Amino acid sequence: MDRYEFAKTLGRKAGALAHRGFGRTAATLKGRHDVLTAMDAEVERFIRRAIAERFPDDAVIGEEEGGATSDRLWIVDPIDGTANYARGIPHYCVSIGYLERGVPTIGVIHDPCHDWLYAAERGGGAWRDDERLAVSPCDDLGAATVECGWSTRRPAQAYVDLVGRVLAAGGAIRRAGSGALGLVDVAAGRVEGYAELHINAWDCAAGIVLVREAGGFTNDFFAGDGLRAGNPLIATNAALCDKLAAVVGIPIRR
Ligand code: IPD
Repeated sequence: MDRYEFAKTLGRKAGALAHRGFGRTAATLKGRHDVLTAMDAEVERFIRRAIAERFPDDAVIGEEEGGATSDRLWIVDPIDGTANYARGIPHYCVSIGYLERGVPTIGVIHDPCHDWLYAAERGGGAWRDDERLAVSPCDDLGAATVECGWSTRRPAQAYVDLVGRVLAAGGAIRRAGSGALGLVDVAAGRVEGYAELHINAWDCAAGIVLVREAGGFTNDFFAGDGLRAGNPLIATNAALCDKLAAVVGIPIRR
């Protein structure tokens, strides 16, 4: 089994494990509005074990345990949308990305509430189960919806300004609480863009592959120290690239 098939099987199994605790797990706070459940650690351990057994020389960076980089690197968010998960809001996922020599190569995201598996391998298109995904063709910000991701890692005013700029440019905004599923929504053409002033690699490594394979564009998220320290993120379609990048202030080089 190659890494892509392996990742898809693992994504489904990890999603099924996570779903056993959905809405039923006690939550603590790692920081202000930064939720942690026991299941975050359990799902990450499950994924790490499976990768170590099948690809012992590969490295893993996970949200809960960190890790070191290597040429063959898995980037894992065991539960993205943890606040939703803990509150019983059915919008969370397991996100498994794989970078080969720094190039985002595989992205697998399992949405346990729908049992939908989103998967993409570089050059092979983006898929939801057997259905091919494509970004929205919309070229008008006045008809576009942009998910604006939020965390306490950036000042509240910077987020308010971001939302204000998108609204002033004519866009509609939403914030649903899972960066990975926000990128899936761009890949599936359900929204026209995703923008966040700071996001971590485990939240977006898999989603970036999905967006690009669905015909969309992102900024060079892994530039600089993006892998370890996170970066701003924008994802959108070709028609809105330049306009949206200018509005949110995150450049995309096409
Ligand atoms: C968070 C979510 C959120 C995004 C934040 C992330 P978590 O991840 O993806 O939508 O805006 O930047 O930290 O805590 O649910 O794994």
